[in-house]
Amino acid sequence: MTTMIATNLPASPRSLRNKGTDMRYTIASVLTAALVTVSSAALAAGGGKIKDHDFSFDGMFGAYDQAQLQRGFQVYEAVCSGCHGMKHVAFRTLADENGPGFSPEAVKAIAANYEVADEEGEPGDTRPAKPFDYFPTPDVGGNPPDMSLLGKARNGGADYIYSLMLGYTGEEKEAGDVILYENTAYGGYLNMAPPLYGDDVEYADGTEPTLKQVSADISAFLMWAAEPKLVERKQAGVWSMTFLLFFATLVWFTNRKVWARVKHPEDHS
Ligand code: HEC
Repeated sequence: MTTMIATNLPASPRSLRNKGTDMRYTIASVLTAALVTVSSAALAAGGGKIKDHDFSFDGMFGAYDQAQLQRGFQVYEAVCSGCHGMKHVAFRTLADENGPGFSPEAVKAIAANYEVADEEGEPGDTRPAKPFDYFPTPDVGGNPPDMSLLGKARNGGADYIYSLMLGYTGEEKEAGDVILYENTAYGGYLNMAPPLYGDDVEYADGTEPTLKQVSADISAFLMWAAEPKLVERKQAGVWSMTFLLFFATLVWFTNRKVWARVKHPEDHS
């Protein structure tokens, strides 16, 4: 390539200038593509009517708010765990630094509140859970989905759960022997009565448990349950963006240096 350009040099100086522009254009495209890829990972399309709540983990530099995850867990334990299990979440992960960050003693105490199958006993025997166990699935009707992946399952993630908690219209209808509840985020009627009303828990950190607050907290907690490595993933994204930027700059300068002789031969003779 170099030889070709060198021999073409006297004949077409104009095309050379274009080459420089092309290169800048290429670098700009690469950077734009990288930006689009990173930011579109954080975007999600909506289903019913989904409010866009401002979560601490939104955006490229977002991270979980540990106090919020602890509050969200309180809501899960007090309300949702009666019907929804989390079979992919081990109690011990509640101590994760980028998660709720409970102390190992607290995790032990939390686990002991749950009964899990006792593999060493008779079939059907249970024992109090230990930190290495996973959240059990309660035996209730209506097929409540497992919560481990709910934060990711529906378009909108945490925003969807938040909107679902706040989306009940108060309209109900009977279908066979169940009552269905209208919800704008669901976009119709679902078989779950409004689980939250505000004042559902007394927060250990003293935060006022308004309906919006408990809804945001449980949504953040379920997002963490579904994506415990979100923060690490984002950090990796930012790191690769930085690298790309560095690399692109390097290529640009190298390119200038390589072409400098060709563009301004008089400076180098
Ligand atoms: C009394 C039992 C019960 C409780 C308590 C409960 N749920 Fe549910 N939940 C259900 C059932 C049953 C379904 C399935 C509804 C359906 O598919 O029609 C469901 C479905 C859901 C869904 C999925 C909705 C969808 O788009 O399909 C979410 C999200 C959810 N629940 C969140 C929660 C949260 C958060 C809490 C705690 C604040 C909670 N639930 C408490 C029974 C319950």
